[in-house]
Amino acid sequence: MSDERSNKMQTIGAIIGKDRLKEKVIAEYKCEGCGENVTEIEAIIPFGPTKGQTHTYKRNCKCREIQMAKEILETSERLKIENKRKRLVNFFKEHSLINRTLKEATFSNYEPTSKELEVAKQKMIEYVADFDKEDSPSVLLLGSYGTGKSHLSVATTKLLIKKDFSCVFISFPKLLRKIRDTYNKDSEITEDQLMDILESVDLLVLDDIGAEKFVAGKDGEVSWKEEILFSILDGRAGKPTIYTSNLDSKSLMKNINERNFSRLMQDTEVIKMNGEDYRRREF
Ligand SMILES: Nc1ncnc2c1ncn2[C@@H]1O[C@H](COP(=O)(O)OP(=O)(O)OP(=O)(O)O)[C@@H](O)[C@H]1O
Ligand SMILES: [Mg+2]
Ligand SMILES: [Zn+2]
Repeated sequence: MSDERSNKMQTIGAIIGKDRLKEKVIAEYKCEGCGENVTEIEAIIPFGPTKGQTHTYKRNCKCREIQMAKEILETSERLKIENKRKRLVNFFKEHSLINRTLKEATFSNYEPTSKELEVAKQKMIEYVADFDKEDSPSVLLLGSYGTGKSHLSVATTKLLIKKDFSCVFISFPKLLRKIRDTYNKDSEITEDQLMDILESVDLLVLDDIGAEKFVAGKDGEVSWKEEILFSILDGRAGKPTIYTSNLDSKSLMKNINERNFSRLMQDTEVIKMNGEDYRRREF
């Protein structure tokens, strides 16, 4: 008998009195679904078009309520996740975070000008092919100006997005400005939401880290920028991140401070990308 029917029967029972409704207990057991002690009852319909027919229903079974509560919970969880994803996509769409010169960057239009850069390209192609959001290492692309560190990172991001991974490419100085913007009253996104996105994406590219030195406040107080970077690195522990910097590792360590540097180097493969500045190749 349908649940609706069974409810109706119970209501009828309540209205006309149990003694007048011909009911027979046919089974009593602990319901596997809800764990309640359930009585299965057979009743004969006392009036109406189905008068005389027998129907069975379960008294005290909470399966339906449990199922409904579960469905409501699942729907709201799903909506939450969908909304979060939508917010993420919109935010990074609106605030085009890849500058114009890099928009066209792909692996195929990257022409390495040296053996070192050829190796870097091949390594990043393999990185994409083997990408595992739980298992891939992080990568630090280190090298001089204009050798294509950002180019290869953008190419990586684009291909992984095509493979349905969530990726964000952002220059670290720009990110700091974005975070500062979230402190404005009418910011469309809060700092927590922004940090949440950075922590949750499958791959984050932090371009140009260490571009400016973190300066500590008085009394050796940790600077705001240092704190932000630390919280991103901390939040992404175990998740792959690509960093690029045109500093040598010693200067990078100086600029982002030792604590951040050692965190950054955990499970991180360094790929050297030194060479001529591609931007100045015509000169
Ligand atoms: N080998 C290359 N083949 C094709 N285009 C390249 C190559 N190297 C660099 N470029 C192009 O040159 C410009 C500079 O490269 P990119 O921004 O990736 O350098 P970078 O290593 O990130 O430099 P910086 O350290 O200054 O950030 C970009 O427009 C990029 O597309
Ligand atoms: Mg760059
Ligand atoms: Zn039940």
